[in-house]
Amino acid sequence: MLYIGVDLGTSAVKLLLMDSEGKIVNIVSKEYPLYFPHPGWSEQKPEDWYEQTMIGIRELIKDVDKSQVAGISFGGQMHGLVILDKDDNVIRPAILWNDGRTTEETEYLNTVIGKEKLSEYTANIAFAGFTAPKILWVKKNEPENFARIAKIMLPKDYIAYRLTGVHCTDVSDASGMLLFDVKNRCWSKEMCDICGISMDQLAKCYESYEKVGTVLPEIAAELGIPADTVVAAGAGDNAAAAVGTGTVGDNMCNISLGTSGTVFISSGRFGVDRFNALHSFAHADGHYHLMGCMLSAASCNKWWMDDIIGTKDYASEQAPIQKLGENHVFYLPYLMGERSPHNSPNARATFIGMTMDTTRADMTQAVLEGVAFALRDSLEVARSLGIDLKRTKICGGGAKSPLWKKIIANVLNLKVDIIESEEGPAMGGAMLAAVACGEYASVEEIAAKVVRIVDTVEPDPELVAKYDARYAQFKEIYPACKPLFDILTK
Ligand code: XUL
Repeated sequence: MLYIGVDLGTSAVKLLLMDSEGKIVNIVSKEYPLYFPHPGWSEQKPEDWYEQTMIGIRELIKDVDKSQVAGISFGGQMHGLVILDKDDNVIRPAILWNDGRTTEETEYLNTVIGKEKLSEYTANIAFAGFTAPKILWVKKNEPENFARIAKIMLPKDYIAYRLTGVHCTDVSDASGMLLFDVKNRCWSKEMCDICGISMDQLAKCYESYEKVGTVLPEIAAELGIPADTVVAAGAGDNAAAAVGTGTVGDNMCNISLGTSGTVFISSGRFGVDRFNALHSFAHADGHYHLMGCMLSAASCNKWWMDDIIGTKDYASEQAPIQKLGENHVFYLPYLMGERSPHNSPNARATFIGMTMDTTRADMTQAVLEGVAFALRDSLEVARSLGIDLKRTKICGGGAKSPLWKKIIANVLNLKVDIIESEEGPAMGGAMLAAVACGEYASVEEIAAKVVRIVDTVEPDPELVAKYDARYAQFKEIYPACKPLFDILTK
């Protein structure tokens, strides 16, 4: 049988076709626009997601026996607010995970409602990108839109809805809304009251590997796939990526180097860190996970290469970089503000430490290192909780660079296991579909059978020591710049 994984990302939708043994049959990617209507705002049109997903699926399966397509599932960009009216029309463009407009609402939730209450109801505190502050923003700034809301959805759930007619979501993605009682895997009535919405405006919540329905007859006809093709709930892109890299069960780690950068730690048991610096979310394997999320990771390198230097040849730009651990230039990767651990939409990117002998390669190296240092910020929070990690998997576009993987292994002092394919969320989506179709008994079973480690990047103790010293310097830069960032963004 064949399974389709849909990774609904921020720059593109990536579609992956997997067979029963976990072999990748085809991969297709389709881009769509990202809108920044004001500095720090970030929006997309759900209709664009759907259109490009359908175009992508057609291309994905054009050369295979379509009668073999058994299931479809998702990894989706998290936290985005999609609102539908009573006729299921999209009310306004989706407000995305890296949108920083909700400073006031986030502040209100964390201080007036209070972090303790939020953590009691949801296991998390408010961050600007989370969904609940966005609902409060729409309520205050667009009351006419707020009054029309019949359903509140997350990005990938809009695609599931268009394919099946079912309003659904899954536990991992729901966890990032600040409306979900993560421990008990159900919606929080208290949070709905705080946001002025009713529980029936939310979608039905499934485990990630559960079937939510089959494709609508017109979709089956349009794509030429069987009428009983199963659609499974899927997961937020980080949980789906964790499935795709076999980061399931207890105390496993995955680093995602996509538009965002995440450190994802799977856990057999529910747990919250005392200061809520890491997100505590439900995992797609039926258990839980902790996660730190930086808002600009591979996107920093893309911005530096494409927009500033003006090249698409990333490998040639990285080729002259030889002296790791000795760069005198530092880069703060906060192009869209920062979530973990600073929780500040006002944070900004900056280079610091240049001298007359600084080269273009030093600046490129600083970008790669700055992202690695910021990932380490999240890892250090996990270490302070007594979580002892020796190795991690890695996925996402940035994971294509051998140099970046080496920098990460040494900055984080972790062995980095390389998986056959770095297509984490799309692979995870296809694997969740296979479980929903009964091809495998559980997410853990399919991960054990199909995820193959093909190489490991080992940290080098000498380089680790050099990077420890550099990291100590990096940590001083944000606190020193913070007052300036607050002035600059006034
Ligand atoms: C996770 C997060 C990002 C998005 C990116 O909390 O906000 O990783 O899911 O798509």
